[in-house]
Amino acid sequence: MLNPELVERAVELLRHGGVIALPTETVYGLAANAEDELAVRRVFAIKGRPATHPLIVHLSGAEHLSSWARDIPDAAHRLAEAFWPGPLTLVLPRTPRATDAVTGGQDTVALRVPGHPVALAVLKALGGGVAAPSANRFGRVSPTTAEHVRADLGADVDLVLDGGPSTVGVESTIVDLSSGAPAILRPGGLSAEDVERVLGHPVPVRAVSKVRVSGSLASHYAPRAGVVLAEPGEAGARVRALREQGLRVGVLGPESLELPPDVPRFDVPEDPTGAARVLYARLREADERGHDVLVVCLPAASGLGIAVRDRLSRAAAPRDPQP
Ligand code: TXA
Ligand code: MG
Repeated sequence: MLNPELVERAVELLRHGGVIALPTETVYGLAANAEDELAVRRVFAIKGRPATHPLIVHLSGAEHLSSWARDIPDAAHRLAEAFWPGPLTLVLPRTPRATDAVTGGQDTVALRVPGHPVALAVLKALGGGVAAPSANRFGRVSPTTAEHVRADLGADVDLVLDGGPSTVGVESTIVDLSSGAPAILRPGGLSAEDVERVLGHPVPVRAVSKVRVSGSLASHYAPRAGVVLAEPGEAGARVRALREQGLRVGVLGPESLELPPDVPRFDVPEDPTGAARVLYARLREADERGHDVLVVCLPAASGLGIAVRDRLSRAAAPRDPQP
């Protein structure tokens, strides 16, 4: 999995304005040298994302925090110590090293140390920061395998590093520590319970923040098929009602579901951590079968279940026309 020649090639590309797909434990990232403005602009162009939406800068270790962020509160050090490398992003006041191209002109920067050996090897060898949004087209489901990236972005990227399936499966948890009390801007691969345990107090989710967070748009993470959400126990009735309307229905849910024999089921386990790991891959698989509607069973609203439910509610939201 860790091929030194490919890592070296990736670093060479990043040093010369290249854009590569980088595996992380959450989802695959579309990576550029964070200090190369042209390369960062290419990332926005490839994703089809508004240039004012800020990107996360990935670092090889917490020791680099102070070169990208200033006025770092003790809470940031404690969270970094506890969870980096891992699925946690910290928003902090920026230093000049974090340019407008990366921050969308905001006075803060989002920083994270990813918990994936390939990503860490690239970051260490580069010795700098890598700006990387998820490697999908704007508004679509994030990729958790190299195959997903190739299917989405194909020839638009200079190199796709294959690090195997992402083990966490949903994007990082974003914690804002830039002003006042800490707040979660995006639930993700690190549970709120874990964040609160280290900080020693409740941390609210700030649903609509003053900063721009594209993952917080109502319609996001969307497959092509319509998405209907079901609490456990409701799925069967939902499926029957949709089929009576003549729709081709697929189901994402656990093995224990009772479904008509000709309704395809794509396995999403009941436990929230397991659900997070496979959710995006199953949404893609199901979407490729040309269903009109996917009925998706919601995991329990605890641990990573909060992030899974958040992504699913956006996938099910009414959609703007895609660009
Ligand atoms: O797990 C992840 O976070 C993945 C992997 C590749 O690291 N990355 C990811 O990036 O999900 P992206 O660009 O799809 O989402 C980054 C989120 C966006 O919603 C963005 O608006 C927010 O981070 N963000 C970036 N900088 C910010 C800032 N200064 N203040 C608030 N939010 C920020
Ligand atoms: Mg994304």
